[in-house]
Amino acid sequence: MTEHMKTGIEGLDNILGGGIPKGQTVLLAGSCGTGKTILCQQFLFTGAKEFNEMGVYITLSESRDRMLKNLESFEFYDKELIESDKIKIVDITQDARLMNLEPLTVKGIMNMVTSIIRDSDAKRVVIDSVTAICNSLGNERNVRDFLFELGLQMQYLDCTSIFISEIAPMKFQYSVFGVEEFIADGVILMREHEEKGDLIRTLQVVKMRGVSHSRNRHIVEISTKGVELKPMFEI
Ligand SMILES: Nc1ncnc2c1ncn2[C@@H]1O[C@H](COP(=O)(O)OP(=O)(O)OP(=O)(O)O)[C@@H](O)[C@H]1O
Ligand SMILES: [Mg+2]
Repeated sequence: MTEHMKTGIEGLDNILGGGIPKGQTVLLAGSCGTGKTILCQQFLFTGAKEFNEMGVYITLSESRDRMLKNLESFEFYDKELIESDKIKIVDITQDARLMNLEPLTVKGIMNMVTSIIRDSDAKRVVIDSVTAICNSLGNERNVRDFLFELGLQMQYLDCTSIFISEIAPMKFQYSVFGVEEFIADGVILMREHEEKGDLIRTLQVVKMRGVSHSRNRHIVEISTKGVELKPMFEI
């Protein structure tokens, strides 16, 4: 039977039959401010707190300090897990600058990512965002090769991973290059919709290999508890 990695977001775990299937790579596609970062941090903090699993958050879009500052207001945040390195937040663009590795090449990024994961023995990995990496690769072929290789490395390192894909608001798409969703085992879509002059956030599981799941849209609420899902009819 497939083992599932609990995300800590009850509604999402229910949809997925317990969480993300172990070892899978999920593309989390969403426009800005839809809750991608918060959801992924909940996934890492749940793993570290409840299952003693190491987590790594690789950021290319927001600095480590800013991310930590924002995290402080959430109930799931535990400073001790950061201080004990059970959860590592790594700003690879800053690290590359410090190590004189700029400009970053595909191989350079791949080496940095795999060595961070190997050194920390991480079981849960988030990359925020693959769009930032893919934009520097230029064409679909390079993006496909890169993501395929990254997925293989994750499997080899026995990690369950979420790759964040940044998409434009109000557009129906999962990725910039249109290939990312085919490489991933799962696709989760976070969007915003205009409803009587109000913007509401939604989440939808588009695909998850090996899981029979609902593809319904759910309402996303963000509070100090983090991301929560509510059925659509509750609004
Ligand atoms: N304590 C809080 N209570 C309620 N809402 C909050 C709280 N903290 C943040 N938010 C909301 O969450 C949003 C940010 O969520 P998050 O950073 O996860 O989004 P994101 O999808 O990662 O955005 P980006 O694409 O910019 O990285 C904010 O725009 C804000 O509306
Ligand atoms: Mg973010």
